[in-house]
Amino acid sequence: MSNLQARVTAGDRAFHVEGYERIEYDLLYVDGVFAPENTELADSYHPYGRALAVVDDTVYRIYGEVIQSYFDHHGIELTVIPVQIRETAKSLETYEQIVSRFDAFGLVRTEPVLVVGGGLTTDVAGFACASYRRNTPYIRIPTTLIGLIDASVSIKVAVNHGKHKNRLGAYHASKYAVEAISDALRFEVKGFGVKVVIIQPGLIRTDFSSTAVAAIGADEGPYGAFNAGVAQATKDVYEKGPMAHFGGDPDDVAKAIEKAITARRPKIRMRVTPSAHMLIAQRRMMTDGMWDRFLTTQFTAPRPDAPAGR
Ligand SMILES: NC(=O)c1ccc[n+]([C@@H]2O[C@H](COP(=O)([O-])OP(=O)(O)OC[C@H]3O[C@@H](n4cnc5c(N)ncnc54)[C@H](O)[C@@H]3O)[C@@H](O)[C@H]2O)c1
Repeated sequence: MSNLQARVTAGDRAFHVEGYERIEYDLLYVDGVFAPENTELADSYHPYGRALAVVDDTVYRIYGEVIQSYFDHHGIELTVIPVQIRETAKSLETYEQIVSRFDAFGLVRTEPVLVVGGGLTTDVAGFACASYRRNTPYIRIPTTLIGLIDASVSIKVAVNHGKHKNRLGAYHASKYAVEAISDALRFEVKGFGVKVVIIQPGLIRTDFSSTAVAAIGADEGPYGAFNAGVAQATKDVYEKGPMAHFGGDPDDVAKAIEKAITARRPKIRMRVTPSAHMLIAQRRMMTDGMWDRFLTTQFTAPRPDAPAGR
């Protein structure tokens, strides 16, 4: 529900409205959000006796039973909308499917939707919540690194439209999410005895190039050739460029995280793959001018009269 406070000044032929909407949301760290003894989530759903959850299909396959038993334990009836959203399906069609399920459920205005998944799930379901009845609350549980450090921390939600990424969206803060990890956080929490380790993975051999290329999209404006160049360079770097040989395995990142958690005196910064070391060393050795020239060998710079991209 909107908490917009507005002031109206009326003149003879017009009136002026000035209003500010307060944005307020919490980021909670919960170790084992679906452990029965943790009541943070259940507390939000007890008043309704039920919960509607949009859950990434892969996450649901892995954690479905745990999620279900959590709500059973707390006597809350759970309805799940499993979604498998690829970057190409971050679309109005998927958004509409989710909204139709909100209708079928008979979601009441103040009832928060639970959104569990990576950035794609939280972006699309978040946009559905932003626009459903103009404003529906939601609680995000990010399950990917991008979700944790970026998508669920930010208040931006969106879907793609046509060839454009995040073309339709909103600013819609979730009721709760979990906190991100960054250099600034290290300083913020140091005084409380909390240590933060920054993990820099570098290039990891995953299917990221296809997601990244789809995500960059095409543009017919001055950024057309540039976007096409970035997409091609990203694909090459992951699939056949020299750096591909220095990329690492996703397990290497998991091992680094394990090491950071279990070490008595963890390093402040951990570079996981040879590519992470190389890219950072390369940047240090070059002057700003050299770095700019290096970038122009990798990408076509945008210009007003550039030809259309892909
Ligand atoms: N709103 C923002 O400010 C913001 C910021 C950054 C990124 N994003 C958006 O985030 C999207 C990318 O998000 P993403 O990288 O999280 O991708 P994603 O949501 O597609 O998740 C990646 C894959 O991991 C699987 N998965 C998710 N959690 C899992 C788990 N715990 N265990 C096993 N598999 C799991 C998913 O099924 C999916 O196949 C992009 O569309 C980008 O635009 C938004």
